Amino acid sequence: MKKIDFNKASFRDFENIPEMDAFATASYFQEYLDFLRVNGHLNYRIESRSPVGPEMDLMLPGDDKPTRSVCLVSNDYLGFSQHPKIKQAVADAALRFGTGSGASPAIGGHFIYHRQLEEKIAAFYGRADAILFTTGYTANSATLQCLLHQEDLAILDMAVHASVYEGCIRTNTKQFLHNNLEHLEQILRSAQHTYRTRFVIVDGVYSQDGDIAPLDQITELAHQYGAYVIVDDAHGIGVTGATGRGVVEQFCLFEKVDIITGTFSKALGCIGGYVVARPEIVNYLKYQAKQHLFSTTATPAIAGIIRAIDLIDEEPEWRTRLWTNIEYLKSGLKAQGLNIGTTASAVIPVKIGDIPKTLETGRLLLRAGIFANPIMYPAVSKKDARVRMNIMATHTQAHLDKVLKAFQQIDKQLNLKK
Ligand SMILES: Cc1ncc(COP(=O)(O)O)c(C=O)c1O
Repeated sequence: MKKIDFNKASFRDFENIPEMDAFATASYFQEYLDFLRVNGHLNYRIESRSPVGPEMDLMLPGDDKPTRSVCLVSNDYLGFSQHPKIKQAVADAALRFGTGSGASPAIGGHFIYHRQLEEKIAAFYGRADAILFTTGYTANSATLQCLLHQEDLAILDMAVHASVYEGCIRTNTKQFLHNNLEHLEQILRSAQHTYRTRFVIVDGVYSQDGDIAPLDQITELAHQYGAYVIVDDAHGIGVTGATGRGVVEQFCLFEKVDIITGTFSKALGCIGGYVVARPEIVNYLKYQAKQHLFSTTATPAIAGIIRAIDLIDEEPEWRTRLWTNIEYLKSGLKAQGLNIGTTASAVIPVKIGDIPKTLETGRLLLRAGIFANPIMYPAVSKKDARVRMNIMATHTQAHLDKVLKAFQQIDKQLNLKK
């Protein structure tokens, strides 16, 4: 077997090595992890000893005590995972209902708090009904696996989340270039009479670039060619739109988008996924989506999500603070000449391109007391490695200044613009 060059490798190279069985592959992968560790580049699964927040106490590789670091890794954009009113709602629900729901939804695991959350998230989008899933990942993968089969077609923006790709394993797929309407139209036109159901599937906010889908034009095109639109607004909810209802609100498409999927794990500070659609689709999923039907429902802690959704309207100041921070960091990075792409959300990439340089930037940031994720292939294309930052409403200007200063120093050392 040809040896993998660890200097150029990515996790994907170890997904399926034809000559190796599962155990041999795992051992070879272990060698790769050890290689990354020795070079100080295994900055994954770093343990925090403190709650999610703009600063966390991190156990850095090789250290025996935690380091207080500025954190740019959390999707808890509004800081809601630590909001006292949400924590109180979770505590009250645990005291009243306990810690588990005991069964899957159709056979005894459906409780008042599940119905209330379904109604709450549906009403948030001005719709009548919604279904809950254990995670945002499952909301996508289960829904698509349930609705799309051999006779159908999923037309995907090539940058959609991994959960969408997993959802499409039983159907036909065609990918269009990221946010490219001409390419989308070509595919829509050519597929018009060939497949039974055609879904155009996009993210509202893209998780690696932080840019948004031109959802108004995408929806118009899809409908013109008789296709349906599904938008996953995992990173839009709570962040974009005049009242935090995400990209669907930004383009005023509440009535037009056919299916909205999303997660409670990011701006809402908890965990779980949802799908909002017309009632017959929601009911079909409730009885046909295997990952919903045969899986125990969420714990009473989801009462915290019900409170969090209310707080999006009751305390818009969190969103205001978040956007002040986003604009501050963006303009500081741009002033340094760094490439932050076309982000229009709380996800800000610094695009570096080269994988070893990106890993080294991640390591130097960590040593400067800043935790940000280096992102590489297969999450992004091979030439598009970057350090990704997630901004929170609870970051202070001092946190962001520290980040800007660190980038200035690392840029001098590594020349990030080249
Ligand atoms: C666009 C997108 N959709 C779905 C998910 C999955 O959501 P969850 O983490 O709640 O499973 C993520 C990331 O986690 C995401 O970035």
